[in-house]
Amino acid sequence: VSDEQFVDALPKVELHVHLEGSMLPGTVLALARRHQVDDIPTTEAALREWYAFKDFNHFLEVYRTAVKVLRDEDDFALLARETALGLAAQNVRYAEIYFTPYIHAMRGVPIEDVFAGVERGRAEAYAATGIDIRWITDIPGGLPGADMRMVAERTVEYATTYGGTGVIGIGVGGAEVGVPRPQFAEAFAAARQAGLRSIPHAGETSGARTVWDSIEHLGADRIGHGIRSLDDPALIERLRTDRIPLDVSPTSNLRTGVVADYASHPLPTLIAEGVPVSLNSDDPPMFGTTLRDEYLHALRDLGLSRATVAELAAAAVHHSFLTPDRKEALL
Ligand code: ADE
Ligand code: ZN
Repeated sequence: VSDEQFVDALPKVELHVHLEGSMLPGTVLALARRHQVDDIPTTEAALREWYAFKDFNHFLEVYRTAVKVLRDEDDFALLARETALGLAAQNVRYAEIYFTPYIHAMRGVPIEDVFAGVERGRAEAYAATGIDIRWITDIPGGLPGADMRMVAERTVEYATTYGGTGVIGIGVGGAEVGVPRPQFAEAFAAARQAGLRSIPHAGETSGARTVWDSIEHLGADRIGHGIRSLDDPALIERLRTDRIPLDVSPTSNLRTGVVADYASHPLPTLIAEGVPVSLNSDDPPMFGTTLRDEYLHALRDLGLSRATVAELAAAAVHHSFLTPDRKEALL
């Protein structure tokens, strides 16, 4: 069989994808028109050019501008439904999807509408395809000018007040440089007290220290990216022995400029070191990828065998927060 047939036949789980980073080009353009958002490109070609990021901070700037097209409950329902259906079409059976309620609340979108929208989209996609998705509410790290402890506290409040059964975890994303993880310790403790899992981004744009802090101060159950863990052999040992998984997204790392090319991507080394890892898409349309493409890149550009790639797909099931019987059913 071809690589494509092999990848398509693999039942997959996605553990690291952002809802706001999953807007299809046509959806960005349509919502920008509907709400008359005027600092967004107006053609798909211009949008592609807009998504050519100079560096990670440039990516974050574009991200913060792009989300302005999301204005009401229907927008969030549409985005959640489209995102889940897009995953289902790639033979993804289950997904844990980040979204960042604070950045919408701060723009004046009623927080009830954000949650009502994403929950409606989640239910519609489940009814249509049986794909099961869960939410990870993400704290936007390093919002310019914001009181970060307040932002973190608010995000946990939203998750526990409006999340219902859809929210399974708390994360922190955005900038890492200049945003030390220990300041989020109280917010993560409150979230964990409420039964949420801890899935911070760390070791994407800053080094091993951020990953250590995420383990020691935030009780990380998994780490978003974590590729810079290789800077510290003691950290690699810790991830391996305590079985703390890294959610790895190769194309994201290339497109934000934190890794130069596929040939120098650390995923094969992490696998060889025995670190638990899975393969993920992060912000697929913004990075010109899909989860399917990430699996194809793993085969063709990272030099992983089909057996290893199949193991990565099974690893994502194991690293998910599904119950043991649900995991069993997916394997
Ligand atoms: N938010 C969306 N994508 C992100 C990434 N790759 N890193 C940090 N925060 C993000
Ligand atoms: Zn991410």
